[in-house]
Amino acid sequence: MTDGGRDLVYLVTGGCGFLGEHVVRLLLEQEPRLRELRVFDLHLGSWLEALNSGPVQVTPIQGDVTRSEDVVAAVAGADVVLHIAGLVDVWGLVDPEVIYRVNVKGTQNVIEACVQTGTRFLVYTSSMEAVGPNSKGHPFYRGNEDTHYEVVHTQPYPRSKAQAERLVIEANGRKATLHGCTCWQLGSWAPEPPP
Ligand SMILES: NC(=O)c1ccc[n+]([C@@H]2O[C@H](COP(=O)([O-])OP(=O)(O)OC[C@H]3O[C@@H](n4cnc5c(N)ncnc54)[C@H](O)[C@@H]3O)[C@@H](O)[C@H]2O)c1
Repeated sequence: MTDGGRDLVYLVTGGCGFLGEHVVRLLLEQEPRLRELRVFDLHLGSWLEALNSGPVQVTPIQGDVTRSEDVVAAVAGADVVLHIAGLVDVWGLVDPEVIYRVNVKGTQNVIEACVQTGTRFLVYTSSMEAVGPNSKGHPFYRGNEDTHYEVVHTQPYPRSKAQAERLVIEANGRKATLHGCTCWQLGSWAPEPPP
């Protein structure tokens, strides 16, 4: 333990986006063991500067999840990675290849970086789009990732979220170079912080 019990390093990818900024602010408010908060994004926000006045070191990192070297450098030494960076495209306007590269390959890069550097906790931000709705319009009530639901993706964005989610679930329990990698998916906030 260091600095009054503050001993954890968190990394938030996509930390300057809509969801990421909320998560960054929540972590600063509600994680008493936070020592350093790394905020990784393609486009950093100037609002980050104002966060550095408290006891937590906030480290902005400009980087691209599609570049494995950027990701490994940011992940190294982090206890927990919250992978939120992604391209959101519900209207099908973005080049499918770009969506795949950022959402699927980017997630693969994050998983591999955790494995390589020994980061044990990875939280992935999936989407209900990974599940459905399906083209038949079947309802999906109060389900989770184990709920049986016939889904056929016709759009690149939902397909990419489903593919990335599968990668994360498959990586759960995979041995890391140092400590082992435990990954779970963010459908909701993790009920307990990691030990
Ligand atoms: N907003 C929602 O309602 C919602 C719902 C379900 C799932 N999600 C998921 O949550 C995540 C964040 O969504 P959001 O609404 O905050 O989107 P957003 O566009 O506001 O934020 C995404 C962030 O990722 C960053 N980013 C994009 N490409 C990057 C790259 N190559 N490298 C590094 N950073 C990159 C962007 O700069 C941005 O800051 C996405 O993965 C999305 O699929 C969002």
